[in-house]
Amino acid sequence: MDLTRPDTPHRAQIGRRRPTRPGAPACHHPAGPPSVRPVRAVVVTSPGGPRVLRVEQVPDPTPGPGQVLIAVAAAGVNRADLLQRAGHYPPPPGAPAWPGLEVSGVVLDVGPSPAAAGPVAGLREGVPSPRAGDRVAALLAGGGYAERVTVDSSLILPIPPTGGLHDAAALPEALATVWSNLRAAAFGPGQTLLVHGGSGGVGSVAVQLAHALGHRVLATAGGAERCERVRALGADVVVDHRAQDVTRAVLDATDGRGVDVVLDVLGGRALASNVRLLAEGGRLVVIGLQQGRRGELDLPALMARRGSVIATTLRDRPAEQKAAIMADVRAHVWPLVLDGRVRPVVHARVPLADAPRAHEMLESGEVFGKVLLVP
Ligand SMILES: NC(=O)c1ccc[n+]([C@@H]2O[C@H](COP(=O)([O-])OP(=O)(O)OC[C@H]3O[C@@H](n4cnc5c(N)ncnc54)[C@H](OP(=O)(O)O)[C@@H]3O)[C@@H](O)[C@H]2O)c1
Repeated sequence: MDLTRPDTPHRAQIGRRRPTRPGAPACHHPAGPPSVRPVRAVVVTSPGGPRVLRVEQVPDPTPGPGQVLIAVAAAGVNRADLLQRAGHYPPPPGAPAWPGLEVSGVVLDVGPSPAAAGPVAGLREGVPSPRAGDRVAALLAGGGYAERVTVDSSLILPIPPTGGLHDAAALPEALATVWSNLRAAAFGPGQTLLVHGGSGGVGSVAVQLAHALGHRVLATAGGAERCERVRALGADVVVDHRAQDVTRAVLDATDGRGVDVVLDVLGGRALASNVRLLAEGGRLVVIGLQQGRRGELDLPALMARRGSVIATTLRDRPAEQKAAIMADVRAHVWPLVLDGRVRPVVHARVPLADAPRAHEMLESGEVFGKVLLVP
């Protein structure tokens, strides 16, 4: 399923608050929305393994100034959620306590005008003005594992009436992460990209995006079958990190030159080899720490390449930065999604109540692309 074809959005509309028909005026209730029963969410009952996740009733969220209330069609499952469940990654202030960094769904309600939020109003030029009934995907600071969630409208991506609704939940976190980091690395025309983990939720998007923009893309993945699937996403060269010497294979594939940008989900122990893979002026962008929090940086090797190391996180960035990233994604990347050149890669769609199984799948390493939770 992809965003160029419709799927069945109706499940998302089962909420007790009915959306108005598409195109109808926004339906904010000045006196607050009518009182309703709580909604279901997957909460972390105590820090621990997947079985600490349980569906419970939580308060029905109310959209604040500039926010929308979304009836969730699907929520993306991310590695950050595993860390949060284990007690190592608390939600930022103001975010719901339950996990979920991205959703797709239908707008049920629209909050008051952001003018009510004072100075924030001046920062909202170009922010979408969704209406009840609109279909959207959204980047969240948390709370997506639920039937409903609120989000600032600066963080939404509009899904046209003809686009697939559910699978769009696989995209906001990866698109924002990949695009903001390619920007940070000043990734430009004619440059080559190495994507570590082209088989992952982030990497599968990075490979497609760089390929769609006409770059030469190298990627790593584990095992022949996964490598073949990454090649089908548009990678020119795929290195099996379980069977090959990655450094040698990448240098061979680039005639010893190395790559302009490495998008790295490994961190610590991969630091030294990643520096060796950089071409002159190359940039190593660290976004994940699957191989540890610390590593040894070979400074002479970095200096010899006049290289640089960049490291970023997305979730805890200030609201204005996230809004700017999503505006950039809407302008430059979302059109590639809408015309089918970048597609959500969905490994499985799992009912909300089976969230423990979704986490087990991600932990097992079997997932190719993203797992979605469906309320
Ligand atoms: N900084 C940020 O803002 C940000 C945002 C989003 C995600 N992240 C982080 O980025 C990382 C990836 O996220 P994700 O959603 O793509 O996770 P994911 O879907 O679980 O994918 C993990 C990927 O890592 C690959 N991998 C594991 N060991 C490897 C190795 N030794 N060599 C090469 N690749 C290896 C896997 O490849 P195989 O399974 O094929 O071996 C897989 O493609 C996570 O650590 C996540 O927390 C950071």
